[in-house]
Amino acid sequence: MAETTSEVDRYIRSTPKSKALWEDAKNYLPGGDSRNSIFWSPYPIFVDHASGCHVVDSDGVDRLDFVGTMTTLVLGHSPKAVVDAVQEQLKQGVVYNAPNVHQIRLAKLLCERIPSFDLVRFTNSGTEATLNTIRAARAVTGRSKIAKVEGGYHGSHDQVSVSVRVNPAKAGERSRPDAMPATEGLSEGTLDQVVVMPFNETAVARKILEEHKDELAAVIIEPMLGSVGMLPATPEYLSMLREFTRDNGIILIFDEVISYRASWGGAQEYYGITPDMTSLGKIIGGGFSIGAFGGSKDIMDLYDPTAAGGPRVAHAGTFNANPVTMLAGAATLEQLTPEVYRKLAEMTEYLRAGILKVGADLETPVQVTGLGSLFGLHFTGIELVGYRDIATEDAAFRHQVFLGLLNEGIMMAANLVGAVSTEIGEAEIDEFTAALRRVLERALTPSG
Ligand SMILES: Cc1ncc(COP(=O)(O)O)c(C=O)c1O
Repeated sequence: MAETTSEVDRYIRSTPKSKALWEDAKNYLPGGDSRNSIFWSPYPIFVDHASGCHVVDSDGVDRLDFVGTMTTLVLGHSPKAVVDAVQEQLKQGVVYNAPNVHQIRLAKLLCERIPSFDLVRFTNSGTEATLNTIRAARAVTGRSKIAKVEGGYHGSHDQVSVSVRVNPAKAGERSRPDAMPATEGLSEGTLDQVVVMPFNETAVARKILEEHKDELAAVIIEPMLGSVGMLPATPEYLSMLREFTRDNGIILIFDEVISYRASWGGAQEYYGITPDMTSLGKIIGGGFSIGAFGGSKDIMDLYDPTAAGGPRVAHAGTFNANPVTMLAGAATLEQLTPEVYRKLAEMTEYLRAGILKVGADLETPVQVTGLGSLFGLHFTGIELVGYRDIATEDAAFRHQVFLGLLNEGIMMAANLVGAVSTEIGEAEIDEFTAALRRVLERALTPSG
């Protein structure tokens, strides 16, 4: 623990203004913030400004941003194309009580790129997007239950707040995980509505699905477990889900809120497996609040207000498809050409190789997971199959590395997942790997 203390001490010494802001914030906001996922111990930095791949905190500490707001900012902070488009729009009004042309532009870009999209609807968050995919699946099938994988994160509504970051010791057998609440306050019966299966264990998951096939409206899955550690699904696992759901009249939902960043058409294009519905968020809003969900025309027609008798599924939202977000999203996607995706993947490969070399040089186990420009750091030698493997990692060591990287001028998510933006090149990646080397050297040396 002595080493942990020294990274904490370094951190506290360099961030007194953030600490003071956090103390003040706690007077008005529980725990000093409005987003638990960006709290870390002893307190988070407060950001003063950001530009490109740099984030500067209230103490003036400049860090390289290797997470981009939980993978959202694929073009870095304030890219010119987005800022110019939004500034122009602000002069024309921020939000209207009627549709605007920009939603057509973003919808078209998404429908052209995403294999499962005939039609799309916009929301303000990924949470609303997954909620709507599940509701649509229930409307289509007339069934109620859903299946999800242990460790899968799909936002914060009740139905998916089940078996996210469970304590394996309390969550049943690995091959038969219990449905565990991810929060207090879930409505009664929520857990009974969710069938939980292990990630990437094809035969075991198939057996569980088989037992519940007549009750399931949907199977929802991140093709790559994102916030839990950027762990890609195996093609066999996703193929089994595709085949099983098709054979049994169950809607297959890919939650691509994070994994859409992996390639031009998302992880579904990368794997060549097309789900019935897809939820999106993060990068498609160019940094503004967004979510989207879509699928085949026959499913999405549930939302059609011109249908006889009105839409079968209700969907509203004051800020849905507002022009500022639509423009920012379209301006972002238009920058993301196949060539840009290729370059992002190449840079991230360079980063992965650099990280692995640090581990090899220091003779310590390091693994880098991820797809495309998304990556996750793991300090274990065991094979990472699913959530339970990730849960074996030493949390205190990981936190030490996270704080150490902050101390060395590198920002990742607190759970050591990250993303490479177009603003990051070899020079920044070399800084990352040099910083990681220093952090690990300190962590692995008893005198730290
Ligand atoms: C895979 C996945 N689905 C859904 C969500 C929820 O999105 P939002 O935070 O926009 O509600 C997230 C957020 O991190 C996510 O990673």
